Amino acid sequence: MMPHRSFVALSRRQMLAIAGAGAFAVSTRSLSATTAFPVPVVDRLSLQVLVDSATFGSFLDDLNLPGMRVLRARGGKPLNAPRMPPHALLGEFGLSILGESQIAASTRRVLVDFGYSREALANNMQLLGIDANAIDAAVLSHGHLDHYGGFPALAQRRRRRIPLIAGDEEAFCERMAMTGTPPPVMGMLDRAALSRAGFDVMLRTAPTVVADHAFTTGLIPLSSSERAAIPTRMRPGIGCDRAGLNPAKRAAKEIPDDGEHELATCYVVKDLGLVVIASCSHRGVINSVRRAQAVSNVSKVHAVLGGFHLVRPRTEAEARETVAMFQQLDPAYIVPMHCTGEVFITEALRVMPQKIVRPYVGSKFVFAAGE
Ligand SMILES: [Fe+2]
Repeated sequence: MMPHRSFVALSRRQMLAIAGAGAFAVSTRSLSATTAFPVPVVDRLSLQVLVDSATFGSFLDDLNLPGMRVLRARGGKPLNAPRMPPHALLGEFGLSILGESQIAASTRRVLVDFGYSREALANNMQLLGIDANAIDAAVLSHGHLDHYGGFPALAQRRRRRIPLIAGDEEAFCERMAMTGTPPPVMGMLDRAALSRAGFDVMLRTAPTVVADHAFTTGLIPLSSSERAAIPTRMRPGIGCDRAGLNPAKRAAKEIPDDGEHELATCYVVKDLGLVVIASCSHRGVINSVRRAQAVSNVSKVHAVLGGFHLVRPRTEAEARETVAMFQQLDPAYIVPMHCTGEVFITEALRVMPQKIVRPYVGSKFVFAAGE
């Protein structure tokens, strides 16, 4: 089935107005059903992995699949250098993806998350030949170190300020990682450093068009059996302004994370359908996809990429249940990254191997009908 709608011809001014206003929310903090809004439809999209846990040399073949090409070797660059470079792409527990899209003659680049360390992001951007000045906008999926930690890598490299879309004030609260005794402080996102690095933060709880081509889901309701089980706690008032938080959280000294502010970043690709970047899926990957379908009014899901966080505190049973829900959803492709976990990957490869594609740092996923 095709997307419900073809391209909605909004002008650049209209698109910017949408991005600036964060329009089309039912209310500023609504998690209930949202009225669909006119999302852009891109002719072509490539998503390149800048930071993830796994790397590979230049020995994997490219894949030419229906509706998706996967360029492995140095992100699609020709392998015609006289010798292998002495520096290698770096993997780490973090995620960063660069989207490059086209609508007719316009090209936009959106950076989704920044990985864990500035060293990995800077190294990989340099080796992959990515110009930080060509990035039009960024999205921070949520306020965890493994998604924002690398942003200083862009500070010295950019000549212009760009918008950074985040879901809510709680992205800035200090986090505790519930992985030891005592729980280690995970840190907080430095708002002043973000500004010095050239980012203008825009908090958008509602679905929002990003750089004319992409859109964020806004806050994600828990609409499936997936629960928001997150291995962190947050500290209202430390790093974040209590007044900007959900009123139910403002007075607390420390509370379990519920991922309320997390966003997914999405595209609609002409004649293919939705491509959803779920980043860490603390609200549930299926919930994230359902939200993308609802706000775009596009039911066909072509590909879902990202971390699905099907490791503790989620259980192996939940990982298998998510596989079953993906079978019902029936996307053409699933690219499990980052925090997804081995149980999901093993089970998904067993029951729907044709849909699963493994990502590596530098891999470029290209979506274009008929290409
Ligand atoms: Fe993560």
